[in-house]
Amino acid sequence: METKIVVVKDPYSDSIDVACEVLRSGGLVAFPTETVYGLGAVATNPETVKKIFEVKGRPQDNPLIVHLSSIEQITNFAYLDEKFVPVIKKLSPGPITFVLRKKDVIPAEVTAGLDTVGIRIPAHPVAHRLIECSGPIAAPSANLSGKPSPTDAQSVIEDLNGLVECIIDAGQSAFGIESTIVDLTRTKPVVLRPGPITLEELNEIFKEFGGVEYHKTNKEVDKPLAPGMKYRHYAPDKPLRILESNTLKDFINTNTLILCTEETKDSLLKDAENVYIIGQFKKPYTIAQNLYKSLRFIDKSPYSDAVIEKFPEEGLFFSIMNRIKKAAIKK
Ligand code: TXA
Ligand code: MG
Repeated sequence: METKIVVVKDPYSDSIDVACEVLRSGGLVAFPTETVYGLGAVATNPETVKKIFEVKGRPQDNPLIVHLSSIEQITNFAYLDEKFVPVIKKLSPGPITFVLRKKDVIPAEVTAGLDTVGIRIPAHPVAHRLIECSGPIAAPSANLSGKPSPTDAQSVIEDLNGLVECIIDAGQSAFGIESTIVDLTRTKPVVLRPGPITLEELNEIFKEFGGVEYHKTNKEVDKPLAPGMKYRHYAPDKPLRILESNTLKDFINTNTLILCTEETKDSLLKDAENVYIIGQFKKPYTIAQNLYKSLRFIDKSPYSDAVIEKFPEEGLFFSIMNRIKKAAIKK
């Protein structure tokens, strides 16, 4: 299949129409969001939704997120308790997904048979326009299953060129890690996946509901609440280990690639040539932005394996460490 690459510089230009037409006619479109690129199909069309699973090699029990263009649309697709509307308004549009009880219009193919659905309203203007034009879009991240999520069109092309009808190129994703997922179907709001909106921020925003609980899932859990969280993810083919910054110097000018912050390079690894900078420690969002590109670089580099700096697990670093740990799980 020939993949159309549509470069969108101005989100308000008509270049998005091509992608919209592909969606409407039952095709798949990779599109930018402010978290990572998504691989979209019209959410109400079970046949095209099935194609997403085939193309990605995605396990059948891993549900997709449905992307909408406004908060008002939510009740067309899911049951929403009125008491949550003010908090949803505070956080959406944005890098957050809410799990709600689904209505029948959402096909079982989207939710992998669950009676709940993940709903997200992305803030990215291109995503917003695409949804307005095509209707609700079911989309996972636009990578092959197991690979790091794509944060630019080049990474999508690496994984999906020739496999999907259209890839939109609208530059780099701002946040760089996938949305925070909050399950609102339980007695207390439960965070299923940490992300750009931090646990600290959520505890503040959900204060009147007693804050949020964090549901820790890992490979050993058979039935985690977010099915996707049990799989090995984001992982380079070469081995990756997580190490304290002060032990990284043991690898200076060896055949191991060192992934670290600018600060660590400047203070501890001055003469090392085998270093890849993943961002600035004092600006954690730069690390989130570059993380998946850095993980993809490991396999492209001439080095045999890689080590990555360990971060304190708080604020955005908590979400960053969640991804790094999954990337470092052995095959
Ligand atoms: O930022 C994001 O969320 C990106 C962009 C494209 O929106 N999407 C994304 O999708 O990361 P994906 O498929 O890579 O991850 C979706 C996660 C999976 O872990 C899945 O199990 C979980 O969301 N999920 C989806 N629907 C769910 C549901 N009804 N209940 C529990 N977990 C759900
Ligand atoms: Mg994914």
